[in-house]
Amino acid sequence: MGQASEVEAIEPADLTADQASAELARLAAVLAQANLDYHGKDAPAISDAEYDALKRRNATIEERFPDLKRADSPSDQVGGPLAEGFSKIRHEVRMLSLGNAFSDEDVVEFDARIRKYLGLGDTDPLTYTAEPKIDGLSLSLRYENGQLVYAATRGDGEVGENVTANAKTIASIPQNLTGAPDILEVRGEVYMSHADFEALNAAQEAAGAKNFANPRNAAAGSLRQLDPNITKSRPLTFFAYAWGALSAPLDDTQMGAIERLGALGFQINPLTATCNGPTELVAHYKAIETARPDLGYDIDGVVYKVNDLALQRRLGFRSTTPRWAIAHKFAAELAWTRLEAIEIQVGRTGALSPVARLSPVTVGGVVVSNATLHNEDYIKGLDSKGVEIRAGKDIREGDLVQVYRAGDVIPKVADVDLSQRPDTAVPYQFPGTCPECGSDAVREEGDAVRRCTGGLICPAQAVEKLKHFVSRGAFDIDGLGAKQVEAFYHDDQLKIREPADIFTLRARDAQSLTKLKNRDGWGETSARNLFDAIDERRSIPLNRVIFALGIRHVGESASNLLARHYNNWPDFDQAMRDAAAQEGAAWDDLLSIDGVGAVMAASLTQAFAQEAEYASITRLIAELDIQPVASPADDGSPVAGQTVVFTGTLEKMTRAEAKARAEALGAKVSGSVSAKTDLLVAGPGAGSKATKAADLGIKVIDEDEWLALIGDA
Ligand code: IVH
Repeated sequence: MGQASEVEAIEPADLTADQASAELARLAAVLAQANLDYHGKDAPAISDAEYDALKRRNATIEERFPDLKRADSPSDQVGGPLAEGFSKIRHEVRMLSLGNAFSDEDVVEFDARIRKYLGLGDTDPLTYTAEPKIDGLSLSLRYENGQLVYAATRGDGEVGENVTANAKTIASIPQNLTGAPDILEVRGEVYMSHADFEALNAAQEAAGAKNFANPRNAAAGSLRQLDPNITKSRPLTFFAYAWGALSAPLDDTQMGAIERLGALGFQINPLTATCNGPTELVAHYKAIETARPDLGYDIDGVVYKVNDLALQRRLGFRSTTPRWAIAHKFAAELAWTRLEAIEIQVGRTGALSPVARLSPVTVGGVVVSNATLHNEDYIKGLDSKGVEIRAGKDIREGDLVQVYRAGDVIPKVADVDLSQRPDTAVPYQFPGTCPECGSDAVREEGDAVRRCTGGLICPAQAVEKLKHFVSRGAFDIDGLGAKQVEAFYHDDQLKIREPADIFTLRARDAQSLTKLKNRDGWGETSARNLFDAIDERRSIPLNRVIFALGIRHVGESASNLLARHYNNWPDFDQAMRDAAAQEGAAWDDLLSIDGVGAVMAASLTQAFAQEAEYASITRLIAELDIQPVASPADDGSPVAGQTVVFTGTLEKMTRAEAKARAEALGAKVSGSVSAKTDLLVAGPGAGSKATKAADLGIKVIDEDEWLALIGDA
């Protein structure tokens, strides 16, 4: 490779791949430093014009060598030197969250689920690791050739904040590693000890600055400082417990991999142990719970992970959580307080949700002033089956109630102290009409929830639909969050009343930008940035559009399934309307999608059959350029895009595993053979499906051939 200074002078069109790679690395570093200089308020080392030129050069090279685009590419970093805050980093391997267990039974079920998925018997050996769940914030550290190249927060799991300069000030984060794989992403938790937290708050107080509510907030506030000198003055620590991208495996087991990280110089938690089965897991949980008060830092549970990494790979992931791990949470913290009022909130699908307004109380370090009351039966003291859950105690305005928080979930009301009930308290009357629009609120047979029948005329439903529309998994428009759409909904000039209105905003306000500009906090530049961000989202993949519509029962993973099945908007649209009668070929086809049941299918077809709702959808679609869902065929799997049916007994994997693996490779898995089937995988005992497939001329293979086909043999 030539000297860096030579490469700098070469036109993008003349670069070799090696030169391009080196140049992209240099540009990422130079631009990141420029951002830091800018935010650090030192005199910026380069002018805005130079900055823009470097950014353009970076983009041109990336266009020529798309494979060389870096995870920390300056192109993905929103803003540039004029933007506030941190630049963004796309995680090469997503940062996931964990499912929760709250009881010993949940742990037994976790083990049973895993055994079932893997096809293991009750007595087959299966080892786990168990370790404290640190209550801090997670961080991903990327090392290339032993050098720390960046540190990123979890963010939404896909894109986090670039906090490299801050992470470098943390003593327990090594900046150089010896003997590490060329590429190594170490993941773990940044936290603050109790002692350091107390000292920090004392210092804050002395300086007249605000106190932090708890060590977690203090750690987060300290890491997310735009000035790394402030982070440096805050005592933060890092525990390593996982990894992301790797150029070579760390070990064959979770325990071995963690020990390897320990040997490389990371702090690993000394309470990490291996356990055989749920009994030992729960015993270690109890041991950690006993040690908890003396640890000197906050933990909120114990994390269990399957020890064998080959089994972890087989188990894989659900949409946001691994199947091979779970967090066993400590019992929630409780507090008593006065319930001042019960208010009704109306959700996106019209659900009337009762919310308890509480006299503020601290629960586990956080001030709580609202709690959910679920639904009208819960207020009466009944569960969804009508069974008493609080020994006949209903909840009334004025009651002294017990509130708890379990993990990050919304606080709940657990109990009522009848001896403290005021004489004036009367049973709560759940409204029969929508408090927002006055329409009837009805409760259908078998539904725990009462719903507003106002549809789009209900302002609360319309606002919630808009909030959902701009949320992360949906349109996720930069600068247009829940707060803004709510304000714009109520603004008589901007008039964002339905999703399509977002996309007509620029045309409606183009000449002057005045409507937006006249609002608090909006200048001409920010208005223009918003319009650009909106325009950028006109081109959007089908799955996001389906999810964004906010149809009841249709979540993110169902939207992915639907998008893969129908591939493009016109086909999806036509199919939903053809299925309106809830019978016939289109309906059967919808139900043939593994993961789509009758309830979801009915909800979908109803949305498309409802005139006003369909008109609103059509207005939106006219503004968009919907991308067919990128088939993972790009990844080169021969089964991508194929419809596969499994039948007979599978011997090397369970049915659930086969299905998940096939879907991960981009195949559709169907339960029945039809003319649309591309491939039948038949194990011993395959019956009528194999005959039917043969009749239809469909390719039939056995399990070993399947494994060879997908490269798992
Ligand atoms: S493992 C793929 N281990 O808990 C699994 N997470 O609720 C990755 N956390 O986002 C996580 N201590 O921030 C793991 N010992 C531990 C942990 C831990 C704390 C955090 C982490 C994660 C969150 C999930």
